[in-house]
Amino acid sequence: MAEFENLPLHIGIIMDGNGRWAKKRGLPRKMGHRAGAEAFKKIATYANKIGIRYMTMYVFSTENWKRPKDEVDAIIGLLRNYLVEVDNYRDQNFRIRFLGDLSAFDADIQQKMEEIRSESANNTGLTLNLAINYGGRDEIVHAARKLAEQVKAGVLQPEQITEASITENLYAGDEPDVDLIIRPSGEYRLSNFLIWQSAYAEYVFMDEILWPDFKPTHLDQALLAYQKRNRRFGGI
Ligand code: FPP
Repeated sequence: MAEFENLPLHIGIIMDGNGRWAKKRGLPRKMGHRAGAEAFKKIATYANKIGIRYMTMYVFSTENWKRPKDEVDAIIGLLRNYLVEVDNYRDQNFRIRFLGDLSAFDADIQQKMEEIRSESANNTGLTLNLAINYGGRDEIVHAARKLAEQVKAGVLQPEQITEASITENLYAGDEPDVDLIIRPSGEYRLSNFLIWQSAYAEYVFMDEILWPDFKPTHLDQALLAYQKRNRRFGGI
């Protein structure tokens, strides 16, 4: 297990490789997502146990709607299951949030997400962000619009727009920047994930592992790699 000192405050995970995991086994892609959802739950539990404060999981991007309908439906089905199951995780004290343009989802899903968010808002365990219908550029567009509304209303001057005010208007504007982004499965891209918040993030790409096979030991490996990095934030 990685040492508990010098843990990243905020981890982002791009849960990639579900489709390939299924293909390797001759299964439909949706079975890969199902296995991916199980890995998600185990990693959230483990991250909470070792004291990670914030974790953002890339569940569904603004671009993922382009996938075949049955695959999109399968991922949304897994989200629905999770929203019901989440009650089983009460003892873990997670603070659960949903980042993204949630207006795209059915009203009952939106209502359930809002219930979970508000009921868990004062919990003190891991803040677990599920990025759904999430795009980093889309998030910045939303923040820009909110600021523009304030300028239009005369309560904000353009020169008062700062990095801090843009951050505050992101989906989780009160959360710290992401320190570590993990992407398994051999792709070396950010894919529109947390693009504003990752300006100084460390990246750990884990080629040899597909997300459904991702275990707590892989999180440990990524944490050890992170702990060896020398973060200078532009200094020397
Ligand atoms: C990327 O793998 C994965 C996704 C687009 C979906 C991620 C979703 C889950 C892990 C399950 C949902 C979890 C919850 C809790 C609702 P890919 O399909 O692009 O894999 P590939 O690159 O091998 O095709």
